[in-house]
Amino acid sequence: MQIFADQRELARGAANEFVARAVAAVAQRGSFTVALSGGSTPKLLYRLLASSGDPFRHQVPWRETHFFWSDERHVPPDHADSNYRMTNEAMLSHVPVPQTNIHRIYGENPDAIEAARDYERHLIEITGDTLPRLDLILLGLGPDGHTASIFPGSEVLHETQHLVGAPWVEKLNTYRITMTLPLLNNAASILFLVSGAEKAEIVRAVLEGHKQYPAEYVKPTNGELLWLLDKDAAPD
Ligand code: 6PG
Repeated sequence: MQIFADQRELARGAANEFVARAVAAVAQRGSFTVALSGGSTPKLLYRLLASSGDPFRHQVPWRETHFFWSDERHVPPDHADSNYRMTNEAMLSHVPVPQTNIHRIYGENPDAIEAARDYERHLIEITGDTLPRLDLILLGLGPDGHTASIFPGSEVLHETQHLVGAPWVEKLNTYRITMTLPLLNNAASILFLVSGAEKAEIVRAVLEGHKQYPAEYVKPTNGELLWLLDKDAAPD
């Protein structure tokens, strides 16, 4: 766990971790596979990685980096709720990443389950593995302990076959498309980015591990798990 003074320092710390893993993966395997998280917390990180005023932009091997998403809302890519749209506006549209390296979830597919199956097939095709080992997965944490789009009480929490699921989220009255635990826990590296005092309680509960919250089940089988928090989100 790393704790930073504020959101800006958290984004800077996360950018350092991102670049270090990107450079190492390309040095070892010639490519870097990363899954981006949605929500509001990672936006500062994405902006920082793309900003011409900072060193990070020149350190990321954009042409060797393949971008995936840990989850997506059931909306088109130009919709205000789209995680793809957020990451594209904050970062991808400003950096020299080949379009063929951008592997978004097709949230516009009216059949969310089909969108999940398509993304699973695409992940396997691009990585060449039936159980891909992504180099890095970014995750956030919701106040209810959800991560990616694995919400408390959701059947997708118990998914063991599919790499991508399409749970119906009653309280949001919508489907979501999300990477499942077998795929998440096969990653080489998982970074949780969490900020804000409203998250301190759930961070403490997840770290205490009462097996109540989906985020507790993110435990890489053979990889690292790193919590990056700002001071407000850090448990006392
Ligand atoms: C999403 C995210 C979700 C997010 C948490 C935290 O699509 O919403 O992937 O899991 O990370 O809800 O969101 P905030 O960063 O906005 O608090």
